[in-house]
Amino acid sequence: MILREMTEADLEAVLRIEREVHAHPWTPGNFSDALRSGYQCKVFELEGEMLGYAVLLLAVDEAELLDIAIDASHQRKGIGRKLLESMLSLARHENMRRMVLEVRASNHPAIALYRASGFEQIGLRRDYYPAANGREDALLMGKGL
Ligand SMILES: CC(C)(COP(=O)(O)OP(=O)(O)OC[C@H]1O[C@@H](n2cnc3c(N)ncnc32)[C@H](O)[C@@H]1OP(=O)(O)O)[C@@H](O)C(=O)NCCC(=O)NCCS
Repeated sequence: MILREMTEADLEAVLRIEREVHAHPWTPGNFSDALRSGYQCKVFELEGEMLGYAVLLLAVDEAELLDIAIDASHQRKGIGRKLLESMLSLARHENMRRMVLEVRASNHPAIALYRASGFEQIGLRRDYYPAANGREDALLMGKGL
């Protein structure tokens, strides 16, 4: 598996996964903005097949994980954990001191992944996300690097 830079040419494949795995997916504009703004946008692939991707914002000494997703047909094989580890290594390499992220309170797979990778809940943002029935809380999670 290799981790490489995401480019505009990847957006069709990225958006296919994004729309498949997220109830409230990022738009093409969100990804283009992230690429243009110089965020760390990475693709994880095996023999040319995209397995997943992640987007990380580096701000002073704190990295914020803005998105991470694994293709539905490749989930529960340890790939998300590997991709997250790669993003943690990247952040350490860039001298970040902490990684933070927000996750929907109902997103048990992602919360389990983050906990298994050493993240702890450091805050709660009430009614942060739009949801099918109104609004949903976000857990703020963090991990020292
Ligand atoms: C969250 C996500 C990236 C995990 O990727 P993955 O490749 O399936 O995860 P892994 O196989 O590496 O699992 C690592 C650990 O995470 C936890 N986990 C992952 N999926 C889980 C699930 N469906 N239910 C419970 N725990 C789960 C487990 O602790 C697992 O370890 P284990 O397999 O030894 O029990 C993937 O489910 C995904 O793309 N979800 C949709 C996008 C998303 O919600 N992103 C996060 C936004 S904040």
